[in-house]
Amino acid sequence: MSSVDSKLYQYAVSTAKEAVLLDSQGKYHQAINKYNRAAEILIQFMKYNKNPQMRALCQKNIEEYVERAKILKSQLGGPRSARPSRRPGVSGDDDESKGETSVSSEEQELIDMISGTIVTESPNVRWDDIAGLENVKQAVREAIVLPIAKPELFTGARRPWSGILLFGPPGCGKTLLAKAAATECNATFFSASSADLLSKWLGESEKLISSLFKVARLKAPSLIFMDEIDSVATKRGEGSESGGERRVKTQLLSEIQGLKSGRGKPLLVLGATNRPWDIDNAMLSRFEKRVHVPLPDLKGRAGIFKIHTEGVDSALTKEDFVELGVRSEGYSGRDIANVCREVIMMPVRELDMGGLLEDSDKEVKVRDITVKDFKKALKKVKPMTNAALLKQYNAWAEEFGEF
Ligand SMILES: Nc1ncnc2c1ncn2[C@@H]1O[C@H](COP(=O)(O)OP(=O)(O)OP(=O)(O)O)[C@@H](O)[C@H]1O
Ligand SMILES: [Mg+2]
Repeated sequence: MSSVDSKLYQYAVSTAKEAVLLDSQGKYHQAINKYNRAAEILIQFMKYNKNPQMRALCQKNIEEYVERAKILKSQLGGPRSARPSRRPGVSGDDDESKGETSVSSEEQELIDMISGTIVTESPNVRWDDIAGLENVKQAVREAIVLPIAKPELFTGARRPWSGILLFGPPGCGKTLLAKAAATECNATFFSASSADLLSKWLGESEKLISSLFKVARLKAPSLIFMDEIDSVATKRGEGSESGGERRVKTQLLSEIQGLKSGRGKPLLVLGATNRPWDIDNAMLSRFEKRVHVPLPDLKGRAGIFKIHTEGVDSALTKEDFVELGVRSEGYSGRDIANVCREVIMMPVRELDMGGLLEDSDKEVKVRDITVKDFKKALKKVKPMTNAALLKQYNAWAEEFGEF
């Protein structure tokens, strides 16, 4: 087992142990979440571990955890949990400075409920980590960072947008922008993948969503980031979507609607999608501000090459980066990041193929990366977005977007 594997497994074991402990203490809500979480981690683990005995063991454990969670669920309404002493694992949690001293046991339960699926860790992405996109950055700052950092400016008719949508081709920085905004505005950050919210594992998506918004209100100022929002708000499946999916959508719609009438500290919802045309109209209307995050322009591309080769010995000049920008028209940020990864590996691969890495004690000198390496890699890594798709984004932006 690799060390990553073994860490994942250890994590599953310790999560399962916590579940059992909570279970024995009658803290059923929390135990259910921990059991489900332990099962999820084991599923992840099984994706990478091919050892048949290990897999059989995991399978058995997963079944046990899921079964136990089911039984507990059916018993809910039984004994309520005692007030847990642990402080919530929510970032930006700065209770003392906000004058709150602690959370009630019910609040703690909500927090535990969302903690398995919704990431609350503060991301560590800065604006400087994102090349180009100057207009988009400004729009995101205005829509998210300022209302949270300076709520006093956004009173009366100058009220903030409660829902903001980032849309555009895959790999162009939507998720990065959301993270940079969260880092800068110092709000409690909640990040939920919509696909996760629909996850059959939890089967309690509606409750999860309402808990998410409750905790976010409690911890305001908050920013809720919902990635891949199209998967929860699709119009494709209007006839075919399951009752569960419909309920989730309705719940989400009403929560976002509710934000408009909300007073007090700001709570904003930021959605991201690369399939904006799939979002149903009711949901779309909740996102009053829609920001197009397009493919990077020349300056942006040169900057992305630079960011993704930082810290690597390189013989490239400023002009070389511009040339790379010219040569990579049509590439997304993710495509360029992939090119850079390829290039960075080239000198190492050469050493390895020359047998120079076999002796682990011997010091080796890795050569600088060169423009030639990039030219080679650009031939190998092709852009993922095609012209027809770009047209579709532009047309949608024209009709529904801002940029
Ligand atoms: N403007 C940029 N500056 C620096 N790196 C970028 C930029 N845009 C994209 N990247 C790189 O591409 C990766 C993917 O970007 P990101 O996850 O933000 O894309 P996305 O728009 O959310 O894509 P998707 O629609 O597939 O979710 C980033 O992790 C980063 O490495
Ligand atoms: Mg993304």
